[in-house]
Amino acid sequence: MRASDARVLWRMLRGEPSGTTHAARLNDFYAPQAEHYDRSRERMLHGRSELLQSLALRSGETLVELGAGTGRNLDWPAARVDELAAVWLIDLCPVLLARARERFAGSSQVHTCEADAALWQPPQPVDAVLCAYSLTMIPDWFAAIDNAWAMLRPGGRIGVVDFYVSRTHPPPGRARHCALARALWPAWFGHDGVRLSADHLPYLERRFAVEQLSEHAGALPWLPGLRVPYYRFVGRKPVSVR
Ligand SMILES: C[S@@+](CC[C@H](N)C(=O)[O-])C[C@H]1O[C@@H](n2cnc3c(N)ncnc32)[C@H](O)[C@@H]1O
Repeated sequence: MRASDARVLWRMLRGEPSGTTHAARLNDFYAPQAEHYDRSRERMLHGRSELLQSLALRSGETLVELGAGTGRNLDWPAARVDELAAVWLIDLCPVLLARARERFAGSSQVHTCEADAALWQPPQPVDAVLCAYSLTMIPDWFAAIDNAWAMLRPGGRIGVVDFYVSRTHPPPGRARHCALARALWPAWFGHDGVRLSADHLPYLERRFAVEQLSEHAGALPWLPGLRVPYYRFVGRKPVSVR
C-alpha cells in the first residue's frame, strides 16, 4: 500500500470529525486527504463518467455541480467544459475547493463558490445540475434536491450518482438489497459522515420526470469481494410546473 493510500485509509478509519459545524467537519475530514483525493476516489466513486455521458451536455449550456469537491468531474470528456457557457462548482469544504480553483485557474467560465448546496442559487436558471456522491454527505439532502429543482430552468436536467440502499420493499423491477446489506452499508459509510439512504431515489423520482435510472454495485478498495450499491439517475424538470 502506498503512503498516500495509508493516509486516506487512516483518516477514514478515524471516522467523521467532531467539529461544531458541518463545514468544519468536512474540512477536518478532507484536509489530510485533499492532495490524494482524486486518485483515491477513482476506485470508489463509480459511474461518474457514465453519468456525465447520460447528462448529454451541449455546447453553450450552463451547469451547476452541487458538492463539487476538487472539480474532478469536469475533467471527464463528456463534461465538455470548454464548450459550456458557464459552470458553477459549489462546495462547503475550502480545502477541496482550493484544488478546484487551481484546476480551473485559466478558465473564465468556471466559477467556484464556497456555499451550502441546500441554499446557494445561481444568478440565472441553469440547464443542468450535477450531484456526484454529494447527496449522501449533505445533511439536509431534501433541501439540496429542492434547491436543484429551483435553480433549473423548465426542461432542465439533473444528474445524480450516489451510494444507496433499497427500501425493504422496493417497487417491482427494482433492486432489493438484503437485510444485511441494508444494515451494513449505512453503518460502514455512516462512520465517515456518508449517509446512505433508501429515500434519495424515491424523492428524486417524485420531483423530476425520470429520463434514466439504473442500479449498480461497485467494488471498494480495502474491502475485497464486497460491492456497494450505487445508482445513476437523470431527471428532467417538467416544462410546465405547478
Ligand atoms: C464524496 S465528495 C464528492 C465530490 C465530487 N462530487 C466528486 O465526485 O469527486 C462529497 C462532496 O460534498 C461536499 N458537501 C457536503 N455537504 C455539502 C453541503 N451542504 N454543501 C456543499 N457541499 C457539500 C463535500 O465537501 C464533498 O466535497
